[in-house]
Amino acid sequence: MTPPLIPLSPALLCSIFRGRDLPFILRRIARRHGDLVQMREGIWLASHPELVQQILVANPTKWSKHRGIEKTKLLLGEGILGSEGDLHRSRRRVLQPLFATSRLSLYADTIVQCALETREGWRGGQTVDMGAEMSILALRIVTRSVFGIGIDGKEQQVSSALDEAMRLFNGSMTPIGDWLETLPYFQRRFGKARSQLDEIVYDLIETKRREGAVGEDVVSVLLRVRDEEGNGLNDEAIRDEAMTLLLAGHETTANAMTFAWWFLSRYASVRQNMEAEVDSVLGNVTANYEDARSLPWTRAVLSETMRLLPPAWIVGRRATQDLTLESAGRTYPVPAGTTLLASSFVVHRDGRFWPEPRRFDPSRWMGDFTPTKWSYFPFGGGHRACLAEGFAWMEAVLALATLAQQFRAHEFGPLLLEPSVTLRPYKKLLMRLEKRS
Ligand code: HEM
Repeated sequence: MTPPLIPLSPALLCSIFRGRDLPFILRRIARRHGDLVQMREGIWLASHPELVQQILVANPTKWSKHRGIEKTKLLLGEGILGSEGDLHRSRRRVLQPLFATSRLSLYADTIVQCALETREGWRGGQTVDMGAEMSILALRIVTRSVFGIGIDGKEQQVSSALDEAMRLFNGSMTPIGDWLETLPYFQRRFGKARSQLDEIVYDLIETKRREGAVGEDVVSVLLRVRDEEGNGLNDEAIRDEAMTLLLAGHETTANAMTFAWWFLSRYASVRQNMEAEVDSVLGNVTANYEDARSLPWTRAVLSETMRLLPPAWIVGRRATQDLTLESAGRTYPVPAGTTLLASSFVVHRDGRFWPEPRRFDPSRWMGDFTPTKWSYFPFGGGHRACLAEGFAWMEAVLALATLAQQFRAHEFGPLLLEPSVTLRPYKKLLMRLEKRS
């Protein structure tokens, strides 16, 4: 059987084009038209956990990444996020040990130290752009921990260049994206952001090479890689992986923490519970690795934040061959070349799997609750699942708790969303800081 084809009304086309409401539109489409629909010929939307499982987990060889991820190659080249087959497998083998559970404890102190520096820069009564604050914090964390080097003084520059690149991606993802990319305006701005980032990443590679590439940081590990003939990676390949980890390693966590602050500002009782937990577990003492496991409410706040506003809100795969999908006892033939989109934003808000789905309620995560399999997938799944899920949880819990020891933040402007490769705040998210007594 063939999934229904969505009638594209001018209003729908307009919203898709504008992009800002896209997650909500996809949610409405799934509710109205079913778990598997054709957005247009060759692009399907799958919105049921059993479909998510078949697309992300079962038969990995039958799926490749989709056009959206290919667009990120403009900045990330052949980095792990967009690479396929043997190249992807070999890079994953090299990079995975950096995020092994046994290494996480080594990163914890750096994470807390970075959060303390952010906290020391905050003042009660100050209004901040929380998105920018969390972006710089996450960038500082990933460079000092995973790259083993600070980019002190350049964080603002890197964060702005990555921000600019993400916004330009957003445009290139629209139906007129290929045309936009040919415009001198696009090329000039994208080229500038890319070369600013390249300069910093190539500098980093040079520094690590001069130091003898002896460390367990990402660049040294990549500099030491040898194939069977003893050949190493060239600088461009190392640059692509480093750039990927720089972007993937800070953008999503920054957005998760930003959204968490926004929810905390709107739900006073949730915030009070979190502050009570932070006070009783940490008091005035600096957090450490063990504490990340003793802050269940803080973690529940983040789980619930990523349920309602998952930073990696949509994943896509392209069928590399003719195949079939099964849903509700029906079989759907999928022609080779079809793109299947699965949106965690949509599935995470499905009332069949989530009671009161629109309610922000971290208490649903307390006790021994486990969601229906594949009804929650903020970190994707299968052989391309997030490389650093454990790192990201520890980072977000420790950073949020450290900041909440001394500060709370109040909503000062609305949260508007910009759904691009990631779900991020549109422009600034202004919040007023209050120093906790
Ligand atoms: C809250 C934070 C994070 C979220 C929600 C998140 C989410 C995701 C998701 C959904 C994917 C799969 C994308 C797909 O299937 O197309 C992914 C992949 C990836 N993530 Fe994360 N991520 C987070 C943090 C991080 C961090 C901190 C790092 C590194 C330091 C990282 C590195 C990666 C890499 C390298 C991949 C590509 C894996 C592959 O293709 O094999 N992520 N992430």
